[in-house]
Amino acid sequence: MKPLKHLPAWKTLEQHFKAMRSFDMRAAFREDAQRFEHLSLRCGNLLLDYSKNRVTPETMQHLMQLARESDLDAMRNAMFSGKRINFTEQRAVLHTALRAPVRPSLMVEGVDVEREVAKVLKRMQRFVETIHDGSWRGHTGKTIRNVVNIGIGGSDLGPAMVCHALDHYAVESVRVHFVSNLDPAHLAGTLAHLDPETTLFIVASKTFTTLETLANANSAKAWLLAALRAPAAVARHFVALSTNAQAVEAFGIDPENMFIFWDWVGGRYSLWSAIGLSIALQIGWGNFQALLAGAHAMDLHFREAPLEVNMPVILGMLGIWYANFWGTDTYGVFPYDQRLRLLVPFLQQLDMESNGKNVNRANKRVNYNTGPIVWGAPGTNGQHAFFELVHQGTRLIPTDFLVAAVNPTPLADQHEWLLANCLAQTEALLKGKSRAVAEAELIAQGMGRADARALAPHKVFPGNRPSNTLLYQKLDPHMLGMLIALYEHKVFVQGVIWQINSFDQWGVELGKQLAPPIRAELNPERVSGEHDGSTLGLIADIRRRRGLST
Ligand code: F6P
Repeated sequence: MKPLKHLPAWKTLEQHFKAMRSFDMRAAFREDAQRFEHLSLRCGNLLLDYSKNRVTPETMQHLMQLARESDLDAMRNAMFSGKRINFTEQRAVLHTALRAPVRPSLMVEGVDVEREVAKVLKRMQRFVETIHDGSWRGHTGKTIRNVVNIGIGGSDLGPAMVCHALDHYAVESVRVHFVSNLDPAHLAGTLAHLDPETTLFIVASKTFTTLETLANANSAKAWLLAALRAPAAVARHFVALSTNAQAVEAFGIDPENMFIFWDWVGGRYSLWSAIGLSIALQIGWGNFQALLAGAHAMDLHFREAPLEVNMPVILGMLGIWYANFWGTDTYGVFPYDQRLRLLVPFLQQLDMESNGKNVNRANKRVNYNTGPIVWGAPGTNGQHAFFELVHQGTRLIPTDFLVAAVNPTPLADQHEWLLANCLAQTEALLKGKSRAVAEAELIAQGMGRADARALAPHKVFPGNRPSNTLLYQKLDPHMLGMLIALYEHKVFVQGVIWQINSFDQWGVELGKQLAPPIRAELNPERVSGEHDGSTLGLIADIRRRRGLST
């Protein structure tokens, strides 16, 4: 593997960047009336407009050449065909197989993956139907009204994001809740409104060893048993989603009530697997299938479309352009869609846990920046909070705006205003406002010349700031599936270019290792350990506040 910075296309891009430093998108739009047509594309009814970026068609050609020289094609085929591309964990990466229509042909290491997936999906479907038709009863014979998904990270963020996004498809018979945080406030606050006789707990954990999830699941079990006073009740009120059958059984959940998935499904890519049970319970089986079908449509596009007209590749390579040539550190995501309010936390795990790496496939430290800091919030809320910095701050921030043409909840002309604001923000980022215009506006408002001259610099918008717009017809299960798969593949593309493993997460381990000894030091019968001065000081302060010896 040639180091990234030695690739000819990288060197070409370095040269090209020098010429692009002074590039002005406004001039580019004036010079090319077809710029929007040249720099936008559709996949199904999803439109990506990337014309408001600091790129020319030539930039895109160089970026695609970099993708070719990085063997993106071969890496993509390796992923789809089940090669162990997660090489630090010796695992295949096959979340795409979870949403493929059954094809008996995907044999991976002797296992017919598609058939295994189909079997679990069938069991999930039956289970969902028994909850919805009321034939699954709680221990005291009542039907289930509330479902609590207990999980964290990928076992929470994906399903929670989808359930919020598609709450307009929710079935009436059950309500789904999500509990993730170790903070007892999360579980206690949720259970306060629920009736143990009509509540089902889904314990969602790939490993079934995660501290937060097991702590919450144990507390939920205690809550249930305190009310129903019969150990047999657990079998009617707990199901598990996991790869670890032994640990599920040890927890006391009947293996009959367990839905499995496999080590080739990464946690942050798992909402398509049994981890999606809460989604199917909330929106019904047909809609869950539509979500999978949407993701599969994006998989096909990603697999088959030439790089130049491949949406995940384009988004991924634009991210490389900004992070590695323009030196941007962050990347903002602004869904003008309240239903997508959990998209940013989901993308934070997807992107930052996948590409927050500093060692490459040759086990060497990289000498360039990798994954960006992902942040954002739904519009228009963000406009009234942090958009000041996006428009007038000193940093360049590439951004994605997402918006639906049609809102399933029309209220007066509110959606028209939402759309107008979304487009206005990207236009403002592009156009900016010059000092002369700012000054003229102030004078037209009646301000004296000297005051206007003094105030005008504060009212200048530099403009020429980049954005992508993803415009879709309406947020339905199919479209949501497409959008999520789009971002998954974008993250994959970037990981390939940066030559890192996007599918492990060793960076979460150290904190987990250090917590148990600290926990032991908070006990009345303290077990002293080795810590830095700050940690020692904090432990001592907590002990003092609790009246314990220090
Ligand atoms: O600590 C990080 C992590 O391992 C994530 O990668 C994962 O999604 C999350 O914890 C939850 O893990 P599990 O599903 O095994 O409980």
